[in-house]
Amino acid sequence: MKVEFYGHVRQYHNIKAEIDRNIQTVLESGQYVMGPMLKKFEAELAAYHGLQFAVGTGNGTDSIWLALMGLGIGPGDEVITHPNTFFATAEAIWIAGATAVFVDCCPKTKCIDPEKIEAAITPKTKAIIPVHLYGQCADMPAIKKIADRHKLKIIEDNAQGIGARGAGFKIGELSDATSTSFIIQKNLGTFGDSGALVTNNAQLEATVRKLRNHGSNARNVHSFGFNSRLDDLHAGILSAKLKHIDEYNDQRRKWSARYTAGLSGCKNIELPVELPGYHHVFHLYVVETRKSEWRDPMVDFLVKNNIDAKTHYSIAIHQQAGYPWGKGARIAGSVANAEANAARCVSLPMFPELTADEVDYVIAKVKEWDAQHGGK
Ligand SMILES: Cc1ncc(COP(=O)(O)O)c(C=O)c1O
Repeated sequence: MKVEFYGHVRQYHNIKAEIDRNIQTVLESGQYVMGPMLKKFEAELAAYHGLQFAVGTGNGTDSIWLALMGLGIGPGDEVITHPNTFFATAEAIWIAGATAVFVDCCPKTKCIDPEKIEAAITPKTKAIIPVHLYGQCADMPAIKKIADRHKLKIIEDNAQGIGARGAGFKIGELSDATSTSFIIQKNLGTFGDSGALVTNNAQLEATVRKLRNHGSNARNVHSFGFNSRLDDLHAGILSAKLKHIDEYNDQRRKWSARYTAGLSGCKNIELPVELPGYHHVFHLYVVETRKSEWRDPMVDFLVKNNIDAKTHYSIAIHQQAGYPWGKGARIAGSVANAEANAARCVSLPMFPELTADEVDYVIAKVKEWDAQHGGK
């Protein structure tokens, strides 16, 4: 048996008629950029979040720096995040011209540890970017309390957790804006690049809407801006997929529960934790080897057994070669939990269209590694 890491083509085949119909609609409309399909999808996405506005962008990285820029955050300002996220979270801070300040993650969830944030705040701090890493919400109520106390903005990096919920809170409810990525492999992914910003802040929405389109919201009328738009073809694909997102997330949760039940006896790995009352949507199912030197051998063993295991993200941002490339960056306190996460993470195949046989094969091979190789 071979188990792939992604199931994009299976997903396409399952809802081919719906996707093809939307693509056809766009092609026949003659409006491919800033057309009616984009408008429709933006309205659907805002409604899905229970928020007023959604602005489609070229990708999830742009959404973050457009939000920072739209909130007036840039050179001379500091933005707090954690270093065991995908590189783009920090990259967006640097593109906006601000300084990235890294604090540690929570050892359980791997999301930013709210207890580490306050000590990192200086008079220059302007915002916090929590990441809903792997598909589980960061502790937004605790982050919001700190932000309110220090008058900081919050931008949620929700590239990985569309449809996730916290205990008593929703994504977008406790922040100024939420950024999403729709790159292929995300829970809501198109067949290419795109992203969006969702918010209740009308001024931010209007600013980002202009910034993403050459500083223009009327033909021939411009101010400084960029080209970062979500094309109508992608909007059509995403509109078709958004109708299925809750069902896809439920499938991911089902496979996660099966992995967790099957692997609970393993002695040499730690399994992902879902906090009580949280609705984790398992963009990724990430286990950690108990020792960092076991990570690569475990991945190699699974790959040799035709299981496409990967690592997310095996080099913490501040440990990348050349860091910080002349950009503003500061590490606030120990980031030992984030470094341990990077050194020990192994992602098992996770997508809604997996089959029970595939999940059981992965479980069997992880157990085999655990019994024969782990710990040695
Ligand atoms: C946590 C996180 N932030 C930001 C991004 C950037 O999104 P994009 O690749 O659409 O620019 C991604 C994914 O790629 C991500 O996983």
